[in-house]
Amino acid sequence: KSKAVPMSIHEPETALPYEKLKTNMECVRKRFSHPLTLSEKILYTHLEDPLNQEVEKGKSYLLLRPDRVAMQDATAQMAMMQFISSGLTKVAVPTTSHCDHLIEAQLSGELDLKRSLDANKEVYDFLQSAAAKYGLGFWKPGSGIIHQILLENYAFPGLLMVGTDSHTPNAGGLGGLCVGVGGAEAVDVMAGMPWELQCPRIIGVHLTGQIGGWTAPKDVILKVAEILTVKGGTGAILEYHGEGCDSISCTGMGTICNMGAEIGATTSLFAFNERMEQYLNATKRKAIADEAKKFEDLLTADEGCEYDEVIEIDLDNLEPLVNGPYTPDLAHPISQLAENSENNGYPMEIKVGLIGSCTNSSYEDLGRCASIAQDALDHGLTTQIPFNVTPGSEQIRATIERDGILDILTNFGATVLANACGPCIGQWDRKDVKKGEKNTIVTSYNRNFTGRNDANPGTHCFVTSPEMVTALSIVGCLSFNPLADELTDSKGNKFMLKEPHAEELPLEGFDPGVDTYTPPPKDGKVDILVDPKSERLQLLQPFEKWDGKDLTDLTVLIKVKGKCTTDHISAAGVWLKYRGHLDNISNNMFIGAVNAENNEMNKVMNHRTSEWGPVPDTARDYKCNNIKWVAVGEENYGEGSSREHAALEPRHLGGVAIIVKSFARIHETNLKKQGLLALTFANASDYDKIKHDSKLSLLNLAKMAPGQPIECEIKNGGSSDKIKLNHTFNVEQIEWFKAGSALNRMKEILTK
Ligand code: F3S
Repeated sequence: KSKAVPMSIHEPETALPYEKLKTNMECVRKRFSHPLTLSEKILYTHLEDPLNQEVEKGKSYLLLRPDRVAMQDATAQMAMMQFISSGLTKVAVPTTSHCDHLIEAQLSGELDLKRSLDANKEVYDFLQSAAAKYGLGFWKPGSGIIHQILLENYAFPGLLMVGTDSHTPNAGGLGGLCVGVGGAEAVDVMAGMPWELQCPRIIGVHLTGQIGGWTAPKDVILKVAEILTVKGGTGAILEYHGEGCDSISCTGMGTICNMGAEIGATTSLFAFNERMEQYLNATKRKAIADEAKKFEDLLTADEGCEYDEVIEIDLDNLEPLVNGPYTPDLAHPISQLAENSENNGYPMEIKVGLIGSCTNSSYEDLGRCASIAQDALDHGLTTQIPFNVTPGSEQIRATIERDGILDILTNFGATVLANACGPCIGQWDRKDVKKGEKNTIVTSYNRNFTGRNDANPGTHCFVTSPEMVTALSIVGCLSFNPLADELTDSKGNKFMLKEPHAEELPLEGFDPGVDTYTPPPKDGKVDILVDPKSERLQLLQPFEKWDGKDLTDLTVLIKVKGKCTTDHISAAGVWLKYRGHLDNISNNMFIGAVNAENNEMNKVMNHRTSEWGPVPDTARDYKCNNIKWVAVGEENYGEGSSREHAALEPRHLGGVAIIVKSFARIHETNLKKQGLLALTFANASDYDKIKHDSKLSLLNLAKMAPGQPIECEIKNGGSSDKIKLNHTFNVEQIEWFKAGSALNRMKEILTK
């Protein structure tokens, strides 16, 4: 038998899973006689039980075995804390941890990185020591953005990966099925448990024609976003197919998959093709490309397969788009941008142009931008506005430096920021406008909701291709269309910008730059660095086991009115820095939720003292006085991100049950994982029966069983009423509740 090909050049002890997937495929083929989509192939060949798993789209929950896990520094902190508290000694699947989110853009790459190393030292030290102890690969601050590094080093066709970041689907550009998840789900996979995913629908995006000229891969996803809108991809995988795919570079396909997150898609992917092979070769992974070619049946869709829905896009006629402001599905073809902006009162003057991010910072992207910048320079022009570049990785930065691309961009007037997320995640010390001031920025990023980049609700952010950001920066106005409008050069002559052009991959190969990777040491004999006095990190204590008794006379901490997303339960922004410290971040619990009693946020009645107070303080008071509490909510409670803090915080501050009209599924699972009872009113109008001073009792819990409602007694003053509460706990999840959390349950099983 020939020697196994490793999954990554950094992990010589791993092996590509193709042989196993092939065996699983034989089981799958026996079950399904129809031609399969690529998404179905990757999912079904990664099933824990490919022979017997029920697979009904939109209904069944697939139990899957991902090949690897990736985490970024904002989400990895709590995920690692949970992994540590599981008591396991090593991660069960290859996992990497990436430092990219905490670096604030202020001055320049080098200076900002230096400041971040000081400001976030304890978090970085913790993540590095935890990586070493538990066997994770660690990418230091300055290494680059998680998704670019995954594409360069770890993604491969047919991969099934989970990542604790919404844009994990980026690796679909290299033929992987990669999904963004919450930390608790990543911990399951790292602990060797199967990962659960509701069987998705598959939307086929059929690409015809050829991409070229000013039209960029970004325009494909901006068009898809316009067609499907921000909710249209929910519960679905977007599978790109058709001859148009071959005209897009591998990194371009990554861009398209990356931004599928903006339409709510589970993930997006392309089938293995020559462009991927070229990229694998260029990133020193020829052995993987050769192996993939032997298993093409696993890595491409079957002829004649059927999609649940098909979208057609003709690349020959796709006009560059500029989407926004405030939502990525509001598309303006460049020829209509000026008119639409005037009509809608968008500020015409562009204040800042930003290129890069995990979405658009490939060698090709930055090369094409440099070609536009050089054209401008040749005519004596430079950027009219601050123009910031975030290279996706140290490898990209070093390679564009060697090849002169960086010089062109800096001559054009660019500031090169650190190889990190920076302004894309609001890590931007922006000084050119005041908070609240109405202004316009254009970026090659993926997200543009209110305040995302600079916490200024007055900022109108438009997302577009990096090429278009560069061209617009030369004029600094939304009225410019580089496909139709002339510019005036420094000598007063009219000219038009040439279409952007660049090498897709560096002719001399990539320059790895400064070595920023630390593999896990063989012996793993490392102490975890968590200062007990730290404000940012705190080791987790296991939650208490259920005592076997009914939960009686529970106090209502808050009855939430209306929308309650994970942001309302656990706000982001300034709280980002406490992501690794459960007690401190719990001070944001429910501060954004509206109290039905007084229509106010963060103000509830403390029923022990009869005083009004902030929600977290009231919960802490109850906890100190052994008063168990519940929170009550309405529809789709917990929608938004899969942030597990929104489940950990109520549990930490003494909550025992969350009772709502309906749950967002991921949050419901997160609550169950943390040992909380996630319950829904059998009769939605029973929400009205619960008053702010009601006392609730959850009865007969010892007999809790799948599909059986729980009886709840509501006492309002002297009267009492009984209602039924539904739940979706299965047998194993009931054990999580009894053990106090899914992690406690895992420990019970492991120590048996
Ligand atoms: Fe970072 Fe923005 Fe991507 S936050 S991971 S660059 S979406």
